[in-house]
Amino acid sequence: MTSDNKAVPRHVAIVMDGNGRWAKKRFLPRFFGHKQGVDALVKVVQACIDREIGYLTVFAFSSENWKRPSDEVSGLMGLVLAAVSRYLARMGAMGVRIRIVGDREAVSEKLRNAWNEAEALTQHNTKLTLSVAFNYGGRWDIVQACKAAMAAGVPPDQLSEAKLSEFMAMSYAPDPDLFIRTGGEVRISNFLLWQVAYTEFVFSDCLWPEFGEAQLDAAISAFRDRDRRFGGVKDAGGSLSAA
Ligand code: FPP
Repeated sequence: MTSDNKAVPRHVAIVMDGNGRWAKKRFLPRFFGHKQGVDALVKVVQACIDREIGYLTVFAFSSENWKRPSDEVSGLMGLVLAAVSRYLARMGAMGVRIRIVGDREAVSEKLRNAWNEAEALTQHNTKLTLSVAFNYGGRWDIVQACKAAMAAGVPPDQLSEAKLSEFMAMSYAPDPDLFIRTGGEVRISNFLLWQVAYTEFVFSDCLWPEFGEAQLDAAISAFRDRDRRFGGVKDAGGSLSAA
């Protein structure tokens, strides 16, 4: 379930788009945009903690990003490894719990080990759960959940939306309340398809390396102005009842 929008969103999901364009504008290789993107992410993690947002989920590498030039893919892998070793202790001290969502089979053993270490070291932290979607796709998630439900012996007549949700990669988190995409494109790009059924969307022209507290606050403010009905209707007093 998602929360109402009286307070801050409990769960914010972000597509961090625009790193390449940020670098190109400065005549720098795309890699520098991704590097700057990591710094923007660290700042946004702190901003989420300050605003008592419980869950932040970011799209770091999609199932489709393997189609990029091999030097960009290997650059991103190296960058993520470097970011884990550079920021893990700091994230731990900030009270961040790190979780990785996505298909880990295709990534290198080195990166898999780094993910496992990050998850193990931060597993007792409670301030913010940072889910990093890596080699993730919304369609992949739905298929893996179906496979897992079948492997667990769930009979077809017992398979409901609630039951399948238990097998989704992010079953530990409430559905996102707010979905932000930077970089000016207006699409989901196979991010959390199942989980965004009633999520509020905010699309920003800001390139991800330039995204910070002010842009986060603007998105939260837009979210608060939305009328969330979850398919129901509101009575004169503003209470929600089923349609
Ligand atoms: C999209 O910008 C961004 C990505 C594909 C990568 C985002 C990854 C990070 C910021 C690193 C995350 C690191 C950790 C440790 C979680 P783009 O390249 O599509 O930009 P463009 O649309 O301007 O070309």
